[in-house]
Amino acid sequence: MKRYVLAMTGASGTVFGVRVLRELVKVSEVHLIMSSQSLSILRDETGLDWTGNTETEIQDKVRKHVSSENVFYWSEHNLNAPVSSGSFRTEGMLVVPCSMKTLAGIACGYANTLIERAADVTLKEGRVLLLSPREMPMNAMHLENMLKLARLGVKIAPPVPAFYHKPQSLDDMVDFIAGKILDAIGIEHELFRRWKGKHAGNESSL
Ligand SMILES: Cc1cc2nc3c(=O)[nH]c(=O)nc-3n(C[C@H](O)[C@H](O)[C@H](O)COP(=O)(O)O)c2cc1C
Repeated sequence: MKRYVLAMTGASGTVFGVRVLRELVKVSEVHLIMSSQSLSILRDETGLDWTGNTETEIQDKVRKHVSSENVFYWSEHNLNAPVSSGSFRTEGMLVVPCSMKTLAGIACGYANTLIERAADVTLKEGRVLLLSPREMPMNAMHLENMLKLARLGVKIAPPVPAFYHKPQSLDDMVDFIAGKILDAIGIEHELFRRWKGKHAGNESSL
């Protein structure tokens, strides 16, 4: 089974991280790291309370939510976790959503938390790293950090909605964005209908 690291940080849009997690555990082992700020924002935005006193307590809550044993939870402060080392093999890492603060930390190689360390390891091992940065508007520093990372081969996949799939609900929009993130790392899914082209003079043939 494939193995991925998934981190969630304190940007708005924690629902995207949860949606990606629910899909990823269907096909892979997932090592989940959440910043303390993401746990707080997750509770505010979705009502999900994944706080706990130990990694195991949080892991149990997450496993129950996603109905899967394929997720392993690590505290952002646990720099002894397996994902801290390049010798622990993974396919790659996703940060969804990615705050500007964590983006800056990764861009500088400032491996202060397990999230930044795991991203640093992913880069040094030449594995796939995808960040879903969320801020609005963005300043030049945010854009420079993203450009620097894109030039290192990092996939920058912000949670930007589209309308060509004719979303009927917020869930449809969330599924579309989660699906595009999974597309970017080559994971199969059926989260949205794909654009199949359109003949001149005809209505959309989605
Ligand atoms: C309700 C709320 C929403 C936030 N949304 C964003 C956001 O969309 N993008 C961002 O970069 N920071 C956002 N922040 C600020 C980050 O949470 C803050 O910079 C934090 O230090 C990020 O830490 P982390 O990356 O370790 O999770 C938000 C904060 C709050 C309280």
